[in-house]
Amino acid sequence: MRRTRATSCLVAATALLALLPFAPKIGVAAGDRALGEYLSSECVTCHQLSGRYQGIPPIVGWPEASFVEIMDEYRAKRRDNPVMQTIAGKFSKEEIAALAAYFGNLKSK
Ligand code: HEC
Repeated sequence: MRRTRATSCLVAATALLALLPFAPKIGVAAGDRALGEYLSSECVTCHQLSGRYQGIPPIVGWPEASFVEIMDEYRAKRRDNPVMQTIAGKFSKEEIAALAAYFGNLKSK
């Protein structure tokens, strides 16, 4: 009996250790491109991923700092556009940094 319990304990501990590297990362690094890609699905209903201008200005390939600055201006309503003000206002600093990293690393075609 004692032996069985010890063995199953060992098995459980080993399984936990094996799973550790796959545990989801906690917190979000600034400029997380994968997160940016995930969040970008909303943006690309209006902004062309190709970087082409179709009534709405393209937002790909910008320096990340300028992108963040413009989003901050929309958030602070220093830039005029009710749609973008609402959209920019929904995101945290980390999420905007992530969007900047994602869009900034795309090239216009
Ligand atoms: C409903 C359509 C729509 C959606 C969705 C949208 N935008 Fe916009 N965005 C616009 C329009 C229209 C403008 C141009 C506003 C103006 O010039 O007054 C704009 C402007 C911008 C600009 C400034 C471009 C420039 O050249 O000045 C940035 C940056 C931007 N959007 C980023 C985003 C991001 C990031 C998202 C997704 C989180 C997003 N937008 C989602 C419509 C949209």
